[in-house]
Amino acid sequence: MAAVTRLLCGSRCLLAGCRSGMSTVWRRPPGGCPWTGAARLFSSEDKVKVTFINRDGETIVAEGKVGESLLDLVVEKNLDIDGFGACEGTLACSTCHLIFEDHIFQQLDRVTDEEMDMLDLAYGLTETSRLGCQICLRPFMNGMIVKVPEAVADVRQAMDMGKST
Ligand code: FES
Repeated sequence: MAAVTRLLCGSRCLLAGCRSGMSTVWRRPPGGCPWTGAARLFSSEDKVKVTFINRDGETIVAEGKVGESLLDLVVEKNLDIDGFGACEGTLACSTCHLIFEDHIFQQLDRVTDEEMDMLDLAYGLTETSRLGCQICLRPFMNGMIVKVPEAVADVRQAMDMGKST
């Protein structure tokens, strides 16, 4: 019974493809997810390698931990992506706009209305665009390539300019 209580009260399940909506499976002892039957467990110490293609075409490779957001990764590794994450992940700027590979995009969690609102204001929106501050690293992302759009819009500045005219 204790295991069930824990499953219902912690953070979101990070098992690749898990649709249970249950929680903390990734921190449980080996034995697999009781809801999905998934066998492999992951911990926040598992590393995920990400290649960023920057605006100038330069590639930047960084490794983060499962559960960290792509914004966390950029900030912690001090990656040279100009203006990235200006609102620090509060869904107010869209400067963390990234373009994902199709097969990765298909596996991401559904976009929330708040993220969609910000994406609508981003420059260079594509079918596989998401906001990096809303995407947490998961094991299936290991080796993925994300593209930084050529142009970036800080929605907050556009709103400020609108107020002053
Ligand atoms: Fe501002 Fe993601 S960091 S919306």
